[in-house]
Amino acid sequence: MIVWIDPGAVLAWGVPRLRDLPWRTTRDPWSILVAEVMLQQTQADRVIPKWQAFLDVYPTPRDCADAALGDVLRLWQGLGYPRRARNLHATAALVVAEHEGRLPDRLDALLALPGIGPYTARAVLAFAFERDVAVVDTNIARILARTIGERLTPKRAQLAADSLVPAGEGWTWNQVVMDLGALVCRPTPKCEACPVASQCAWKRRGLDEPDPAHGSAGVSTKQAPFAGSDRQRRGRVLAQLGNGAQPIADLDRRIVEGLLADGLVEVDGTTLRLPS
Ligand code: ADE
Repeated sequence: MIVWIDPGAVLAWGVPRLRDLPWRTTRDPWSILVAEVMLQQTQADRVIPKWQAFLDVYPTPRDCADAALGDVLRLWQGLGYPRRARNLHATAALVVAEHEGRLPDRLDALLALPGIGPYTARAVLAFAFERDVAVVDTNIARILARTIGERLTPKRAQLAADSLVPAGEGWTWNQVVMDLGALVCRPTPKCEACPVASQCAWKRRGLDEPDPAHGSAGVSTKQAPFAGSDRQRRGRVLAQLGNGAQPIADLDRRIVEGLLADGLVEVDGTTLRLPS
């Protein structure tokens, strides 16, 4: 693929202003995995205290694997999307059973773990093992679609991202491009601050509508409102169970069935509880 933006210009912009985020100070694969899973659906400022608290209690995969899922879910309270915690706990168990307690450093082995998809697997490779792979999160996907000027398929987005990584700079490159998406190439872009505005196909066309990022691979759509949602109802039930088992008859049957199907709760006689 022909490189259409100058990676050097992006690095020159980003390295001096790299955001100071705590997971950027470690190369520990488990700590990075926990951060990336939390960051999938939760804003960085809300993740910071939860990430630190989680790693204080479960500093290694073995510590997490040895814990009851219910305890992991209790610690996850407030982050939402608790299936992520269940998957992390299952991943910790597999890492202990099959990888001597250490996260593997191969893409196929990472992808075989529960809850680890193409984004998270590459994030672990780039940010823990400093490999020259390209991650495509929502920020980076937006930059790719706009600079290329087209809505992309997942394969094309990954190939495009791969083609840009400067040799030996995988860690820095991915962090810098994430910052470019978070600070400049935002849903409403700030092109005047962009180091590659003159190379951006969408900008050169005058930012015509529709934005090529809309519907492009990896670009997330707005989360549905939380208030009044099943997500909120599920969170409330899990929070109640965090204080102890509850009579099933007191709980919303449809919500209970969903939580049971997701393996997030257990039946114990006539009560419901967090998994032991
Ligand atoms: N979002 C997901 N991963 C991130 C990272 N490593 N730094 C900042 N934001 C992120």
